[in-house]
Amino acid sequence: MEEMDTIIEPFRIKSVEPIRMTTREERERRLRDVDYNVFGLHARDVLIDLLTDSGTGAMSAGQWAGVMRGDESYAGSESYYRFEETVQDIFGFEHVIPTHQGRAAERILFSTVCDDGDVVPNNTHFDTTRANVEASGAEARDLPCPEADDLSDPAPFKGDIDLEGLERTIREVGADRIPMVMITVTNNSGGGQPVSMANLRRASELCGEHGIPLYLDACRFAENAWFIKQREEGWSDTPVDEIAREMFSHADGCTMSAKKDGLANIGGFLATDDDRLARQERELLILTEGFPTYGGMAGRDLEAIARGLREVLEPDYLQYRVTSTRYLGEHVSEAGVPIVEPPGGHAVYVDADTFCPNVPPRQFPGLSLVVALYRVAGIRAVEIGSVMFGGEDPETGEFRPARNELVRLAMPRRVYTQSHVDYVVEALLKIWDRRDELGGYRITDAPETLRHFTASFEPVGEA
Ligand code: F0G
Repeated sequence: MEEMDTIIEPFRIKSVEPIRMTTREERERRLRDVDYNVFGLHARDVLIDLLTDSGTGAMSAGQWAGVMRGDESYAGSESYYRFEETVQDIFGFEHVIPTHQGRAAERILFSTVCDDGDVVPNNTHFDTTRANVEASGAEARDLPCPEADDLSDPAPFKGDIDLEGLERTIREVGADRIPMVMITVTNNSGGGQPVSMANLRRASELCGEHGIPLYLDACRFAENAWFIKQREEGWSDTPVDEIAREMFSHADGCTMSAKKDGLANIGGFLATDDDRLARQERELLILTEGFPTYGGMAGRDLEAIARGLREVLEPDYLQYRVTSTRYLGEHVSEAGVPIVEPPGGHAVYVDADTFCPNVPPRQFPGLSLVVALYRVAGIRAVEIGSVMFGGEDPETGEFRPARNELVRLAMPRRVYTQSHVDYVVEALLKIWDRRDELGGYRITDAPETLRHFTASFEPVGEA
């Protein structure tokens, strides 16, 4: 038979969930009600929700069947052993510590290994990872590779950690003050870009020479493995699950949010080969999450994750996953919309600073585009720019912008079809055509930390 070019969703739909059309007037009213912060919207007022790919995926019939098999025993649940065996098989670590989501694994890990004054290098810390490192008294240091600086450079592995920077950091800080090095696969805050096997291997050698453990923040490990298969020389013939095993073979442990490449709606884990560390971590686990054979999860969650971790490594799934994200990225960038190139695995990141010609960083171009997407089409996206990462100089009060002004369109797994994506493309292009009309915003009220979740805004020019 002829090879087919059209890449389709490799599933059919057994159960549907209606989404609701709203009028522009309704959406305008909702925006005013929530002070232009889309985190405040009720989900029923959102037509296509691209706020995050975390916990928003659709489970398979196999996973739902697993839910019914969930063994809810407090200790020694069968579901735990199925979960543990799957994680050991794919990730290769002996100790598997279940947590209610990724950040709980982070908290347990960092509060066990970090001390005041320590430094944890990472290609780029995700915001909860950074916050948990800092809460332990250590410094979270981002070391993205130089190619990541140029948003429009379509280099294949812009998620790599800067190896020279890592070497310099180890020399300057001293190995005894670096309890671990972390690499986030794929690099979420850096545009969903993958990390190459060569980079993982060299980082692992460097850490090994200095006796520093290397950890992976593994949330999107399957997407990363797929990019290695597609883009890195020497891997195209290797099955993707073997690539994943090889990635983890370079690490001493990992943290995982199963809400991403676990294809589950909740859950996570921490894994390591270090017996002594695992014991300390389990003590803390019992204190705040639960007994070691369930952590922060129900038995049914453990079942869903055990199956999700297998499904996420199916080539048909990964091909569809990465292609559908690229489809969105390519259709908007062909029309001139500036995005972080190449499109990431789980999301497309729009460069809002370039997109909004009349909105300077201090008036939050990312927010301006996020508001426009909801107003025009009922689409919810997230600002990753100066609302999230900017601030004021504590002494002068002067505005300090974030490194980039991005809007992330994150794709929930197996949820939206190609026509939904076409709708998002159309909306973005309509806004692009009238980008001169986009105006800025100012903050009217904001909490001290993680202000993007709850801050209030008003359009600049309104009294
Ligand atoms: N690490 C990375 C790279 C993440 O993207 C996230 C979550 C976490 C850790 C924390 O996991 O949410 O299960 O506690 N990212 C979501 C997002 C929230 O929208 O990117 P969690």
